[in-house]
Amino acid sequence: MQLSFAAPGSVTSGAWIVGALEGSHLTAAAAKADKASGGAIKRALAVSKFTGKRSQMLEVLAPAGIAASRIVLVGLGKPAEFDSHAAEDIAATAIGALSRSGESAATFEIDLPKGGKLKPGALAAHLAMGTQLKSYAFNHYRTKDLAEYESKLKKVTIATTDATGAKKAWMPLEAVASGMFLARDLVNEPPNILSPAEFAKRCRALSKLGVKVDVLGVAEMTKLGMGALLGVGQGSSRESQLVVMHWSGGKRKDAPVAFVGKGVCFDSGGLSLKPAASMIGMKGDMGGAAAVTGAMHALALRKARVNAVGVIGLVENMPDGNAQRPDDVVKSMSGQTIEVLNTDAEGRLVLADALTFTQQKFKPKFVIDLATLTGAIMIALGTEHAGLFSNDDKLASRLAEAGKAVGEPVWRLPLGPGYDKMIRSKIADMKNITGSTFAGSIAAAQFLQRFVENGQAWAHLDIAGTAWQDGEQRALIPSWGTGYGVRLLEQLVAEHYEG
Ligand code: BES
Ligand code: MN
Ligand code: ZN
Repeated sequence: MQLSFAAPGSVTSGAWIVGALEGSHLTAAAAKADKASGGAIKRALAVSKFTGKRSQMLEVLAPAGIAASRIVLVGLGKPAEFDSHAAEDIAATAIGALSRSGESAATFEIDLPKGGKLKPGALAAHLAMGTQLKSYAFNHYRTKDLAEYESKLKKVTIATTDATGAKKAWMPLEAVASGMFLARDLVNEPPNILSPAEFAKRCRALSKLGVKVDVLGVAEMTKLGMGALLGVGQGSSRESQLVVMHWSGGKRKDAPVAFVGKGVCFDSGGLSLKPAASMIGMKGDMGGAAAVTGAMHALALRKARVNAVGVIGLVENMPDGNAQRPDDVVKSMSGQTIEVLNTDAEGRLVLADALTFTQQKFKPKFVIDLATLTGAIMIALGTEHAGLFSNDDKLASRLAEAGKAVGEPVWRLPLGPGYDKMIRSKIADMKNITGSTFAGSIAAAQFLQRFVENGQAWAHLDIAGTAWQDGEQRALIPSWGTGYGVRLLEQLVAEHYEG
């Protein structure tokens, strides 16, 4: 997709996208398009249900009198409510329709009344973001009918009175979109291709952006005593990996911020095997690791003034003669022992060692882990919010704010000693399931908290409901893998931890 910003001028080819406020009130640009086409928009309005509500759309094909191939009228809603989310949503709506239609070029000319929430430069940048995020497609494994699946839309121009401001505001957004695309690609890749080693190889590519990337294999992890992570991977013929990504954009001695990701490249459940239908989609069980990798990519791409580490535990959870058994007891890097009563509660085992490693090695300002950890989080929150658990109110409220700002919302759930009792084991320091159907997501978070060291600020995001989606539920997300988490982490850093 070729995206550019330009001063408003005449649209000589492709789609001309203009707006109407609620009540079908045409903006100046829309009125201009209507006049140039001899009243084609008003005639179309008279025979449609269009009222100007946000993200409504009305297309006028091949209007007489103008060079543009079509006029697309989009609803802007109430001007006082028009914010960055609205800009991204309307752009995605228009671009989605044009991608399906066979159009090859488009120009946005969205002129809001003065005095709204968005200045012209920011408006243009967020129209670009909506365009970019919607343009994502994963057609890597199709060998035929590509014309049907691939968009012909190659050139999008955004008319703005402040092209300089738009370009400046677009730079960090473009980096975020790029990180989100990387995360989406990783989640969409099939598990026969994306083994732990292949995932690690893709992380190594971040070194081109100045990220220091270290990969630990089974031998190194054994030396470190990572019995919890290694137990999960021992039933797979593919080697487990721990990838450490380090971006040093901040002051030399400044403690880094740390992100830890669950990277279960395929979760069969292990010997506690999942039923066939529940296994479908478990290629996405590395969504937390994908978000961490995408966030590190975005931070490096925009040269964020922060020190940041991303640590991801990459394993495949498989049943096998060498697989971990329900009833096994493993020893984690922290020294604590875990009775594994269900090999399908594997994510917490992987995270336990990744958390210990990250805290001991980097002494971070905070550590945030992201994981497609529990089906139960979807029972509680559906697919709208990720679950947030934290021992630090400030970090939790910053995450909640960041999530709202960028449309990746989180909802905090409680932790407490009463819940911690649920994971007491008869023979080891803890067990990896409760044995009850109550509070499954909280119990998993309690498990993780046992690996949080004294005084360490920590947050856990359970993204099982948000890392992938069935069908196109959200305007900005055209694929299965959503890239959820990348934008949230980037926003958190940009807002609070730079400079
Ligand atoms: N990866 C799953 C969680 C999951 C389920 C993510 C569905 C996305 C969609 C996790 O490893 C798992 O299997 N969790 C179990 C925990 C249980 C055994 C305590 C679950 O949620 O059923
Ligand atoms: Mn599992
Ligand atoms: Zn899992």
